[in-house]
This record gives sequence, C-alpha cells and structure tokens, in this order.
Amino acid sequence: MGKFEGKVAFISGAARGQGRSHAVRFAQEGADVIAFDVCKDISTTGYPLATSADLAETVRLVEQLDRRIVAVKADVRDLPGVQKAFNEGLAQFGRVDFVLCNAGIVSILNDDDPMQAFRDVIDVNLVGVWNTIYAALPTLLDQGEGGSIVITSSAAGLKGIGGPTAGGNAYVSSKHGLVGLMRNLATNYSPLGIRVNTVHPTGVNTPMVINERMAKILAEMPEAIGATSNLMPIEIIEPSDVSDAVVWLCSDAARYITGVALPVDAGCAIK
Ligand SMILES: NC(=O)c1ccc[n+]([C@@H]2O[C@H](COP(=O)([O-])OP(=O)(O)OC[C@H]3O[C@@H](n4cnc5c(N)ncnc54)[C@H](O)[C@@H]3O)[C@@H](O)[C@H]2O)c1
Repeated sequence: MGKFEGKVAFISGAARGQGRSHAVRFAQEGADVIAFDVCKDISTTGYPLATSADLAETVRLVEQLDRRIVAVKADVRDLPGVQKAFNEGLAQFGRVDFVLCNAGIVSILNDDDPMQAFRDVIDVNLVGVWNTIYAALPTLLDQGEGGSIVITSSAAGLKGIGGPTAGGNAYVSSKHGLVGLMRNLATNYSPLGIRVNTVHPTGVNTPMVINERMAKILAEMPEAIGATSNLMPIEIIEPSDVSDAVVWLCSDAARYITGVALPVDAGCAIK
C-alpha cells in the first residue's frame, strides 16, 4: 500500500518535465491526480511549452498505474480556467490533499520585447502559483483535515543567478517572491494543519533547459553556466530527484515541516 492511498494531488504544469514526474510518483504512492497544463506556447519564452499530446502521455502513465487522473488544458494565468480544472477533478474525486504548484517558464528570448518577457514570467511563475493555490484552498479549508502545498521555486529563488536580461531578472524575482508567498501562507494556514513549503531545484533535465535556445544562450553567456554550477560534481539533476523531495514533503514523515525553503540543488545555493 502506497503512502498516498485515498489521497488526491492537484498539479500544475503536469504535461511533461517535473510536473509529469510528480504525477507519476504520486500515482505510484496511490494518489489520484488532478492535472492541468497550458499546452500552448508563450512567445517570450523562446522554447516550446508542452502539447496536448504530452498531457495525454501523463494520463497514460498514471492510468497505467491503475490510478485515476483528470487532465485539463488550462493556463495558470487564468483564474477561472484554473478553478474549472480544479472543480472538474473535485467532482470526480471529491477531495484534495496536496497542491503542487509546479508550472513555470523561463524567458530567454527577451531582446525583442523585454517588458513583455518580464510580465509573462511574473504572471506565470508568481500570479499563476497564487491562482493555483486560490483555486484549491477553499476545499482544503472546508475539509478541515490539513494538507500540503508544495511550491516549486528554484535555486534562483535563493540567489541571483538569472543573468542580465529582463527575463532573467523576472525569473529570479518571481522565484524569490514565491518564498514570501510560501511564508505568509504557512503563517496563516499551518495552525489549521495545512503545511506550505517551497522546493528549490538546481538545473533539472527537462525541456525548459534542454532546448536549442538555451544551448545558444549558454554558449553566448558562459557566465550563466558558472552561476548555475553546483558544489556536488553533477551538472544537472533529474525530475525524479525533485519528485522524491515533494513526496517527502507531502508525507507523514514531514508532518511537522512547514514554512521551509528546501534546496534540491547539489549545493548550488551556497556556492
Ligand atoms: N528545469 C530546470 O532547470 C528548473 C530548475 C529550477 C526550477 N525549475 C522550475 O521547475 C518547474 C517545472 O519546470 P520543468 O523543469 O519541468 O520545465 P518544463 O518546461 O518541462 O515544464 C513546465 C510545464 O509547465 C507548463 N506551463 C508553462 N506555462 C504554463 C501556464 N501558463 N499554465 C499552465 N502550465 C504552464 C509547461 O507547458 C510545461 O508542461 C518550473 O516552475 C521551473 O521554473 C526548473
């Protein structure tokens, strides 16, 4: 029997990368999943976001584990859309236990329209996380059984490693902002048993960083490589490394862990 039998996880950005890995890991532990993803590109990112086919693959992987999943196309920037996605899942599963705010973008094609790039990153990475929590929080509160909210920040939420571009400044700002959001939510809701924490990965092997555009930027700005390097002798970690931390944060083993900014970064943040 898994750790999360009978529990439900609400996951943003679940079509691929870390979000998909979380969906599969939580399903392996027995949870049902409410998944959503924008499945559409945002022009200022300069790399493709997930597709409907990616989201369908997450569905297949979860169902293969004999777990249920409701998967919806929705944009974290659109609160009514996020609420609709959440409510579809709630109608199926009747509850929610874990809120994994994972969706995010990095903007590296920002020379064309730096102000738009800045706004897009803040809208997705900060406002989008708030929208995701706002959609699920009333149900967590109504249930009165506690819960766990895990927000995916970044090593860039602990130090300034965004590079000199508008998008880089926005990324570091948004990811630091999430720590403030987490602390305030933890202050208000931990007394009710709803734990709130952030995870701070170093570079993770996903299409966000493993893409043509990023390879070009890193070649042009080698200092960005230095800034993101880790203390431990590893260049990049795997999505499963982050999922393991998120599973732990949601498990009873972490039942008194709240208000914590947890690096999963091979020492990047203190380098
Ligand atoms: N990959 C890294 O090196 C790295 C490092 C530290 C933190 N992070 C963070 O980890 C999280 C997951 O990223 P990933 O590495 O899996 O990258 P990814 O690009 O593979 O996955 C992000 C997912 O979020 C979705 N998404 C983007 N904008 C959205 C929106 N507006 N609404 C709904 N969904 C949206 C994408 O379609 C994609 O499926 C992000 O918050 C990212 O900032 C990534």
